[in-house]
Amino acid sequence: MQELISTKSHDEERQGEAFSTQSLNQHFHKHFYIESYGCAMNFADSEVVASILQKENIGSTTNIEDADVILINTCSIREKAEDKIRKRLTEFKQLKKQKPGLVIGVLGCMAERLKGNLIEEEKLVDIVVGPDAYRSLPQLIEDAETGQKAVNVLLSRDETYADISPIRLNSNGVNAFVSIMRGCNNMCSFCVVPFTRGRERSRNAQSIVLEAEALFNDGYREVTLLGQNVDSYHWRDEETKSNVSFAELMEKVALISPLLRVRFSTSHPKDITDDVLFTIKKYENICNYIHLPVQSGSSRMLQMMNRTYSREWYIAKINRIKEIIPDCGISTDMITGFCTETEEDHQESLSLMQYCKYDLAYMYFYSERPGTLAARRFKDDVPLEVKKRRLQEMVDLHRIHSLESMQRDVGKTFKVLVEGVSKKDEDEFYGRNDQNKVVVFPKLNYKKGDYVTVDIHTCTAGTLIGKTKA
Ligand code: SAM
Ligand code: SF4
Ligand code: F3S
Repeated sequence: MQELISTKSHDEERQGEAFSTQSLNQHFHKHFYIESYGCAMNFADSEVVASILQKENIGSTTNIEDADVILINTCSIREKAEDKIRKRLTEFKQLKKQKPGLVIGVLGCMAERLKGNLIEEEKLVDIVVGPDAYRSLPQLIEDAETGQKAVNVLLSRDETYADISPIRLNSNGVNAFVSIMRGCNNMCSFCVVPFTRGRERSRNAQSIVLEAEALFNDGYREVTLLGQNVDSYHWRDEETKSNVSFAELMEKVALISPLLRVRFSTSHPKDITDDVLFTIKKYENICNYIHLPVQSGSSRMLQMMNRTYSREWYIAKINRIKEIIPDCGISTDMITGFCTETEEDHQESLSLMQYCKYDLAYMYFYSERPGTLAARRFKDDVPLEVKKRRLQEMVDLHRIHSLESMQRDVGKTFKVLVEGVSKKDEDEFYGRNDQNKVVVFPKLNYKKGDYVTVDIHTCTAGTLIGKTKA
């Protein structure tokens, strides 16, 4: 899932993966095939969907030809993301011609954004279901099978799917996502997420801990706590009359076992607290890695983006992280060519990157999204070629920083969680260190899920290469 030099984000890195469970012994009366696009939250949602459908005796398949129902869990974050999905939908059209009873459903953010129009627009779509309406999917499938229009895009103020045990789809058995909240209350002016995912709500803390515990007991060794703004997690336990903050939630999960690694994404610079930083520092199994998207280095742009912090505030946060957790890995998201961005603003973004020297950065040029605050208030006035040129300059600068960051680790020793066999060499394993860098090393007698100590001898732009300590 990680790419060290990238113009893509988590949300676009994993595109169109088809997943299935390994429930070979169970006999299902129907099969669904699901492809997921977008951010980790969408991938986690597909696992909730799998659980909902499996309860109704609809099992998953990775073979699209075997499917009675094809589902596509979609992303709307940039125009390009939606274009990809439209293209994929036209491919499904061919399949439907050969198999007329086939049901095709669009899930996720694009379903929420376009609602019933998607059925009219794309013709071949039978079901449109938004992120808060997955419980109604079995009924919608039935409706579609009898030729009815099956749309449910109701957003909810309290749905968190807390009681649903996600079915891990094509998992490596080591890492899993655990959704801790849904929606977003931050109206960043460029962003479609508050419209597609609705109001922010936190999930019952106890259900999160139970899910992480169950994962650990099943052999998983790393959980990533997911939310668009994890630092604003807040749960009021009415039984004990106590509140649980994000720092406290992380602590509860970390206490399950020192062998369970805890990661989280995404943090918002305005909300990340010292409590969170000290909790990361206190627990060896909470990873020293923070994804702290800044979006721009210009305070004027940040204000227009409605990010509610300035360049100086952000720099102070970075300094604070480095003061409390000196070896913390830090990554960011950046946007070039936002409305009215000047060369001066762009230079400020570059100089901020020069200051922060991110280990990892996800960079994009601005893509106007209909209905967002920016689309309503500002003109998308930076020409495409300028947006792209600025993006390229940014990517080039970041490439230097990420290589330097890798090179700084040569000669160091890291504890690495073994995640799987290296794609390039089947005699090698890959895993990640605390700071989220990919490490490759000889397999020897280790197995997935082990922790190994690796001396780093060399690196590429995206990988640390080493040998396990004798
Ligand atoms: N909640 C996270 C945050 O606040 O940073 C991430 C939100 S979004 C899923 C991931 C990234 O997509 C954002 O951080 C932003 O850089 C980028 N993004 C969002 N809307 C965009 C747009 N309209 N054009 C280009 N990039 C966009
Ligand atoms: Fe979008 Fe901002 Fe919410 Fe992130 S915090 S999901 S960028 S509105
Ligand atoms: Fe995309 Fe929706 Fe995630 S718009 S980035 S799938 S929240």
